[in-house]
Amino acid sequence: MCSSRSFLSRAGFLNNLLKMCTLDGVKILVLQVTNSPFNEEQVDLLNRLLPGLNDSQRVWLSGYLTALLGTAAVEAAPIASAAAGQTATVSTADFAMLTASEPSSAVQAGAPASKEVTVLYGSQTGNAKGLAQQLSSRLEGEGFQVTTVSMGDLKPNQLKKMERLLLLVSTHGEGEPPDAAISFYEFLHSKRAPKLEGLEFSVLALGDTSYEFFCQTGKDFDQRLEELGGKRIVERADCDVDFDEAAAEWMNQVLAALNAGHATTAGGAVHVSTSQIAGDQTGGNSSAYSRTNPFQAEILENLNLNGRGSKRETRHIELSLEGSGLQYQPGDCLAIYPENHPQLVTDILEAMGWSGQETVTINKNGEQRSVGDALLTHYEITVLTKPLLTQAAALTGNARLQELVQPGHEAELKSYLNGRDLLDLIQDFSLKGHSAQEITALLRKIPPRQYSISSSPTAYPEEVHITVRTVNYESYGRERYGVCSTQLAQRAEVGEHLPVYIQQNDQFRLPEHPDTPIIMIGPGTGVAPFRAFLGEREETGATGKSWLFYGNQHFTTDFLYQIEWQRWLKDGVLTRMDVAFSRDTTEKVYVQHRMLEHSRELFAWLEEGAVVYVCGDEKRMAHDVQATLLQIIEREGVLNAEQAGQYLAGMQQEKRYLRDVY
Ligand SMILES: Cc1cc2nc3c(=O)[nH]c(=O)nc-3n(C[C@H](O)[C@H](O)[C@H](O)COP(=O)(O)OP(=O)(O)OC[C@H]3O[C@@H](n4cnc5c(N)ncnc54)[C@H](O)[C@@H]3O)c2cc1C
Ligand SMILES: NC(=O)c1ccc[n+]([C@@H]2O[C@H](COP(=O)([O-])OP(=O)(O)OC[C@H]3O[C@@H](n4cnc5c(N)ncnc54)[C@H](OP(=O)(O)O)[C@@H]3O)[C@@H](O)[C@H]2O)c1
Ligand SMILES: Cc1cc2nc3c(=O)[nH]c(=O)nc-3n(C[C@H](O)[C@H](O)[C@H](O)COP(=O)(O)O)c2cc1C
Repeated sequence: MCSSRSFLSRAGFLNNLLKMCTLDGVKILVLQVTNSPFNEEQVDLLNRLLPGLNDSQRVWLSGYLTALLGTAAVEAAPIASAAAGQTATVSTADFAMLTASEPSSAVQAGAPASKEVTVLYGSQTGNAKGLAQQLSSRLEGEGFQVTTVSMGDLKPNQLKKMERLLLLVSTHGEGEPPDAAISFYEFLHSKRAPKLEGLEFSVLALGDTSYEFFCQTGKDFDQRLEELGGKRIVERADCDVDFDEAAAEWMNQVLAALNAGHATTAGGAVHVSTSQIAGDQTGGNSSAYSRTNPFQAEILENLNLNGRGSKRETRHIELSLEGSGLQYQPGDCLAIYPENHPQLVTDILEAMGWSGQETVTINKNGEQRSVGDALLTHYEITVLTKPLLTQAAALTGNARLQELVQPGHEAELKSYLNGRDLLDLIQDFSLKGHSAQEITALLRKIPPRQYSISSSPTAYPEEVHITVRTVNYESYGRERYGVCSTQLAQRAEVGEHLPVYIQQNDQFRLPEHPDTPIIMIGPGTGVAPFRAFLGEREETGATGKSWLFYGNQHFTTDFLYQIEWQRWLKDGVLTRMDVAFSRDTTEKVYVQHRMLEHSRELFAWLEEGAVVYVCGDEKRMAHDVQATLLQIIEREGVLNAEQAGQYLAGMQQEKRYLRDVY
């Protein structure tokens, strides 16, 4: 977990002060005599008292001790908040920090508690936004005046007026900010950024440890806010894909600190016990079903859209939402909790010499499963990350593995992680002999997969359609199967059920005015949301012009939804369509080549106020399409490169250049 990772990386004195212990299978922090200001008797008393306290008692105690150190002004806050029955938790580590005499870069204790807080989020696929909404409602519940705003909607002059800023942001691309956060990110990192000496802030960074630049955007914001003079309320938390517990821990710390009226830490993240797990991240959906409580949707249809002889397989899957209350809009995604490939689970069990029936505890609540079931449905077994290898090195003491995770071996580590899975790790470093509990404790929870919804909810009430390309490839002499797409292609029969929820995507919406022209660029599965867009425009009778750029490998086998586009063209729902079949000619032809061929007309649409949508491959296509758009703007608008950049940035600000890329 990232919280324990952050904890382990803290200043040395805290490591000496506190120790991780396991009590009834639950990890807790234990205070130690070494380097702490307490004698043995005091430590013994504290260690007997602290683990037994409930959340309210911890909050109260934290506030009480803080008030003793600070002024009378903060004294009332914790008492009042404890009386109000709040559930935020602080840890023994917070406690240690409060009583330690280390110099603090954080806000001084005793500052009067302000009730105004800004929750600012930067989110691409909805996770940071969902957490921001959750944090806001918790703050409001505790009497704070909360302004919740997306980075895309923030006016630069608002920043200067803020007193307390809670910033939640994910990282995308290769260490880049989410689209809606780019302008704010650039502004804050520019010379125009204001001094923020009066600002108190804290950052929750979302990311994925399998990426090289883990949580980079959150790290950048955190550092920059400090450089500009801001003071941390609590330290940044860096969250991996299974972010629930770590995000809840950070929120608990923030609430405890705000309620206590001052900052709590001076450096390094603090590990707190988790009592409140993040709830619904999907926001705005009145259904009882959400990310933390997925709906079991029945599969109504599962077809291969590619013709015989195609190199690819793309499944069109229809699911029933009947009775779920789940609603969506064109542009939203469907998220699915997948299961691992049974053969890979069998191979891992065999390699470890486990029967599969060994019991493992899978979470802090002490929930137990057989290891076979846990590997199939609960744990990620197809991705290796640096934290996983680091923990495996510590567990096994394997010298080669330990060397691999040492500083100076980054390139070697990156190369090892790429294209390998848990089975490789077990075989390469002889993990056999370790218990099922020891090995599963190293693993992350299997994350849900998102798919751009390809149906219009108006055209298909109570149904949701997705368009999924099957991922499979060979690596290190073994066939590898994309977890979710292969499950959908090979093991998802009509009549079976899948755990799903809706991930809202407010950044990828049809224009408000039905007569606004739209330009849709979606090669491959990137075309999925445009089927939803046009289905919706057909149902609502929208009159705006529409232009689709579609690409795939071969006309005869890979023209996804060909009949529907042709019908929409005939009916006028789709004004024009340009296609690029990359492997039907000797020279590759991509969507951006078609855009260039029609650059004058495309620019005229932009000048008329068209909204441009790009969906599909993030790594190459989205970059190349953006470069082509800039080229067209430069050429047809008779602008220089800088002006063309400003033109596109302006479109982004006006929400007229929207991307759903992955
Ligand atoms: C907002 C959003 C919308 C999306 N919409 C769609 C959609 O509409 N349709 C769709 O099909 N997908 C979509 N995706 C992608 C989808 O979520 C999954 O990532 C995809 O289906 C793969 O998941 P998987 O579990 O099958 O594969 P995984 O088990 O996650 O494996 C995929 C990973 O395998 C590795 N890999 C793949 N190919 C190779 C190779 N040749 N060599 C080495 N390594 C390789 C890569 O690391 C890749 O990330 C979307 C993603 C996002 C974030
Ligand atoms: N994270 C994942 O695991 C995952 C899973 C599924 C899809 N995806 C991403 O989603 C994308 C969509 O997948 P898909 O299979 O439907 O389609 P795709 O791989 O994007 O291919 C669609 C068309 O785009 C072309 N293309 C390749 N490079 C391009 C570029 N730089 N600019 C414009 N067009 C380009 C392809 O041509 P050629 O093939 O002839 O080069 C093909 O004709 C994938 O590329 C992949 O990155 C990711
Ligand atoms: C296309 C793509 C690229 C990503 N790149 C990174 C990255 O460079 N570094 C990282 O730490 N996480 C990366 N992530 C993981 C996301 O930050 C993570 O899934 C996060 O929970 C998303 O939050 P959001 O839904 O608020 O955008 C990437 C995710 C996707 C889909």
